Amino acid sequence: ATLTQDDLKKIAAYKAVEHVKSGMVLGLGTGSTAKHAVDRIAQLLQQGKLKDIVGIPTSTITHEQAVRLGIPLSDLDSHPVVDLAIDGADEVDPGLNLVKGRGGSLLREKMVESACKKFIVIVDESKLVKHVGGSRLAMPVEVIPFCWNHSLKRLVALFAYAGCVGELRKSGDGGKAYVTDNGNYIIDLYFERDIGDLNKASDAILRLPGIVEHGMFIGLATSVIVAGVDGITVKTK
Ligand code: A5P
Repeated sequence: ATLTQDDLKKIAAYKAVEHVKSGMVLGLGTGSTAKHAVDRIAQLLQQGKLKDIVGIPTSTITHEQAVRLGIPLSDLDSHPVVDLAIDGADEVDPGLNLVKGRGGSLLREKMVESACKKFIVIVDESKLVKHVGGSRLAMPVEVIPFCWNHSLKRLVALFAYAGCVGELRKSGDGGKAYVTDNGNYIIDLYFERDIGDLNKASDAILRLPGIVEHGMFIGLATSVIVAGVDGITVKTK
């Protein structure tokens, strides 16, 4: 039988969970791929193959999943150092830079994943790109709701050289703005051309008042597990 995309996500997730050891503080990612990793961790806890795990969820949805499955939870205030985080991504480039946040959880993900000793990214092969921030797919930016349209214009102006356009993310119901776990909005940026140096782009975005965080995860991943129809590939820094 041919493998579905969800099968590939599950294969990558299960492979990553092989790196989980008893006693670890674990960053629990968000999204359809990370969900499989959280399921697997809970299963190993129930079977007694893992013990004394503390999970740090990266979103309210993952928090709810972990509570349902009985995974003991904490937060960065009590556990400022996380042993290992496992999370999906929307794009991965050859330097292991990522775009995240199409699911809307980029801020908590970045807080947890920048506090980790190890951060394993799990993806199916469709997520691989040549260069993040230029793939024509959305690059999400979390902004405070106050005068979001002004923030949108300033973001677009910053990347005029890359043919940038932006739009406010809407939630399913009646065209209302999508609201993040932190009560903020998301502006999705689209680029016609490559944005160039990612660190420069990051600095420029974060210097704008009203911007909370962006979805480029530069240099944070320590390895990436890619599941494809021909098998698993592991990319390490
Ligand atoms: C959540 O905001 C995102 O950063 C996810 O981690 C990312 O979108 C990957 O999700 P999927 O595994 O569902 O593609």
